[in-house]
Amino acid sequence: MNLGKNIRQDFPMYNENGKYKNVPLHYLDNSATTFKPYPVIKAINNYNYHMTCNAHRGDYTLAYDVSSAFEKARSEIASFINAKNEEIIFTSSTTMSLNELAYMLEDTLLEGDEVVISKQEHASNVLPWFNLKKRKGIEIKYVDIESDGNILPSKLEKVMSSKTKIVSLASVSNVLGYPLDVKALAKVAHDNNAIYIADAAQSIAHNKTDVKDLDVDFLCFSGHKMLGPTGIGVLYGKIDSLKRLDPVFLGGEMNARFYSDSTYTLADIPLRFEAGTQNIAGVLGLAAACSYLNKIGFENISYHELKLKKHLIELLRQNNDVVIYNELSPSGIITFNVKDVFSQDVASYLSTYGIYVRTGTHCAKLLPEVIEADTTIRASLYIYNDIDDVDELATRLKSAKEDYLNAFFSK
Ligand code: ALA
Repeated sequence: MNLGKNIRQDFPMYNENGKYKNVPLHYLDNSATTFKPYPVIKAINNYNYHMTCNAHRGDYTLAYDVSSAFEKARSEIASFINAKNEEIIFTSSTTMSLNELAYMLEDTLLEGDEVVISKQEHASNVLPWFNLKKRKGIEIKYVDIESDGNILPSKLEKVMSSKTKIVSLASVSNVLGYPLDVKALAKVAHDNNAIYIADAAQSIAHNKTDVKDLDVDFLCFSGHKMLGPTGIGVLYGKIDSLKRLDPVFLGGEMNARFYSDSTYTLADIPLRFEAGTQNIAGVLGLAAACSYLNKIGFENISYHELKLKKHLIELLRQNNDVVIYNELSPSGIITFNVKDVFSQDVASYLSTYGIYVRTGTHCAKLLPEVIEADTTIRASLYIYNDIDDVDELATRLKSAKEDYLNAFFSK
């Protein structure tokens, strides 16, 4: 299946002849968020236009239909990652999934227990654990990362101790982009009696996820990074692991009953973890995104991204001003700098040509301790990107330094 330009008709962001404000659009910030295809927009609109009412609350026809559609969507999302329906908890994002999980795991930890993360984690997989350190007196330990961003099971083994209770790692770093061997890492965690949490924010849209095969205890992802809507995320938990947790958010539909003596009983899993009205349109949109991605196929996605990345790397290698940090990492993320030019200045320069990349620390603020670059430029590819995008990036980077210096000294 040919991707790139061949599927741009599915994405209304390319409607205006592929231009934004009359400049050809070269969107290379897919690790931040992705465009939405028509079936996703249609699912959201269908709820808002034709099926608006709450789920799991009413006894009228419309309420019945919405509740059925909501649970059917849960089931489609579950099967997308080979989970059971009740193992899918809806949240608003990966960040919220990780925070909710950290709060729920608090009771399972004692002072001095250890949580293992790495220095390439996104803030959302660092700060919730820092918070637990402050609240509970746990220790944070860091597993070493290789120069390409990989994390070897042998390195994880080295950092484990009898006090390690949790290992929580991004399956793909949002900066270096190396897809970890999650299955092997989870086995190391389990062999040491720890649980394994996969932050799948950056992997879910690019690699097939099979939670049973990976054997992770928890896995978190967001809809908007996989062609779905913003404001919807998933916390997957093995059913036996979820049974051991108490909900952190309380309110409507998560309880079975409550009494004036301040006692209450919980609804069944997963509803006990979903207090209040859910993002119903978001859930329906996310299910549509799963179905769209299944049709495209993960082998095609990976082939397409790696083909474009290879081409871009070949072009960037010819530019002596460009330093690449993750040449060998097999994903669609390319992280680099232009020597002697501040990354944000390069991004502003590229923006004038419609080339949209992300710069800065990318919320991974411990990574500069490892890669010796405080800020970087990140181009992240996806299924609708094509040769025109990477060629344009490489071409404009050829003149970026010279144009920047000329503009600077002419001031
Ligand atoms: N976490 C997103 C990124 O890496 C926002 O850009």
